[in-house]
Amino acid sequence: MNQDSLKRQAAEAAVALVESGMVVGLGTGSTAAFAIDGLIRRVREERLDIVAIPTSERSDAQARQGGIRLTDFAAHHRVDLTIDGADEIALGSLDLVKGLGGALLREKIVAAASSRLVIIADASKLVERLGSTVRVPVEVVPFGWQTTLDRIGALGGNPVLRPDKAGEPFRTDGGNLILDCAFGPLADAGAMEQALSNTIGVVETGLFIGMAASAMVATADGVRRLDRM
Ligand code: A5P
Repeated sequence: MNQDSLKRQAAEAAVALVESGMVVGLGTGSTAAFAIDGLIRRVREERLDIVAIPTSERSDAQARQGGIRLTDFAAHHRVDLTIDGADEIALGSLDLVKGLGGALLREKIVAAASSRLVIIADASKLVERLGSTVRVPVEVVPFGWQTTLDRIGALGGNPVLRPDKAGEPFRTDGGNLILDCAFGPLADAGAMEQALSNTIGVVETGLFIGMAASAMVATADGVRRLDRM
């Protein structure tokens, strides 16, 4: 089974949790895009009656084009259920690394406002320790980013400025920059999240600690549901 079919299966398992009347958070990334597709289908075929808050301009456009009604935090301060992908999922805690797609700030704001955050992924995203397989993205303000990089470097992250496809500095939807940090396997991801958050110039980190309630993880043998321990 190819990776896209696994992503779609995980997405469909989460989409099945959505009920009419819900405010739904729409994640960002290739797996979340399958979930948005699934919601579009349910809205069309089952007349599923939802409103949604997207975590990026990309997801906004996909949902809008597919006919999902969008809302915002001016109208709804709470989200019932958010479905989003992740770059790493820690076994047991379901702590996450997110932001390889660059949407970590809005993703974290939506996750924090959600009664339930369900992560969708294929099994390649499961790790014992966060930081094992990917760099941790950290969103920083453009002003003085070089000094922010030095401070993060002092935490051991060997940060590098993320380029876009044209080789220019990548800009997030909020106009900020991203420093990708190679910490290696983190012994205490919560402590690193705190240290990064306390660093002047940091807007948000891609470490999502204690936020995910469950994860739908697609394997060749089917979708496994993991709940936070
Ligand atoms: C977007 O900013 C990220 O947090 C994504 O959720 C993450 O990169 C997962 O993307 P894929 O589903 O494409 O792997």
